[in-house]
Amino acid sequence: MFGKSRITPQIDKDQLELLKNAQKRIKQKKRLYIHFVIFLIGAVFLIIANVLIGVGEGVTLFGKDWFVFAILIWLFLFIYHLFNVFITHKFMGKAWEEEQLQKLVSKQKERVGELGQKLEQEGSREGLEKKKSELTLIVAAGENNAIGKDNKLIWYLSDDLKRFKSLTNDHHIIMGRKTFESFPKPLPNRIHIVITRQENYQVPDGVIVVNSLKEALAISKNDSQPFVIGGGEIYKQAIAIADKIEITRVHETFEADTFFPEIDTTFWKEIAKSFHKKDENNEHDFSFITYIRR
Ligand SMILES: NC(=O)c1ccc[n+]([C@@H]2O[C@H](COP(=O)([O-])OP(=O)(O)OC[C@H]3O[C@@H](n4cnc5c(N)ncnc54)[C@H](OP(=O)(O)O)[C@@H]3O)[C@@H](O)[C@H]2O)c1
Repeated sequence: MFGKSRITPQIDKDQLELLKNAQKRIKQKKRLYIHFVIFLIGAVFLIIANVLIGVGEGVTLFGKDWFVFAILIWLFLFIYHLFNVFITHKFMGKAWEEEQLQKLVSKQKERVGELGQKLEQEGSREGLEKKKSELTLIVAAGENNAIGKDNKLIWYLSDDLKRFKSLTNDHHIIMGRKTFESFPKPLPNRIHIVITRQENYQVPDGVIVVNSLKEALAISKNDSQPFVIGGGEIYKQAIAIADKIEITRVHETFEADTFFPEIDTTFWKEIAKSFHKKDENNEHDFSFITYIRR
């Protein structure tokens, strides 16, 4: 359902040729190194054969033992090999190597350009989609940001529930699994999206289960105002990407185990506030406050 587009690796003929030649080069250097090691061992062996074992004892040339000349000849061959690998034998020449490199670089540049264009297009498309949809956090929190205890709300505010119902009516409501479980049953006229890490989490018909906030947002992207309705864990993740916060600030401090994140007013601008005194339907003084991202 949420399939990812696959990127197929593409190696063209030029790249393949360069790769093959690089492998050849490595082999050449390896062979030179092995030659060097064998030369060292061989030289020691020749010395031992002559001096200790007595092979060719008495055979000299210009007053020197034979192994000295044998080693010198071998050294000459090794130097020739070295010269061949590093000085004369550069595949098809330096110019050819540079040409290959240029080809590769220009191809990579082309690809980077194409990718950049693609990203720009996708970015502007996403930007338009984002404008269409205003992700809103809706919450009731005490002065100390308390929002719940033992998976329950801490207060009864009838006006807050009414406001919640009227704002979220006909919209997607995104929530964590624990908040969903705190409801006696799903609320009417809203599309419930429950976030859980569980694979086979069972829910009543009509409720959508996802495994991440990202998936929840993808599902609700055509809604003009999807709401994140809690709880603490989900608010914490969603506040970074939300466009709006509808908070009922309950003017008291509560003992709690779940909290709303601090609203940083360098990022959030208050655009509406209305104060309400406590009454027979509302246990505490509270204010409805709306913030939008600056
Ligand atoms: N005052 C208010 O306005 C308000 C509103 C809503 C809730 N609340 C209160 O908040 C409390 C519940 O909040 P909470 O923080 O304990 O729990 P929660 O945020 O409602 O749910 C947490 C669960 O969500 C799932 N989850 C979280 N992040 C996820 C991720 N990135 N990917 C996949 N799954 C993820 C996990 O479910 P699994 O464990 O199943 O994987 C996790 O255990 C209750 O007390 C409730 O009454 C208050």
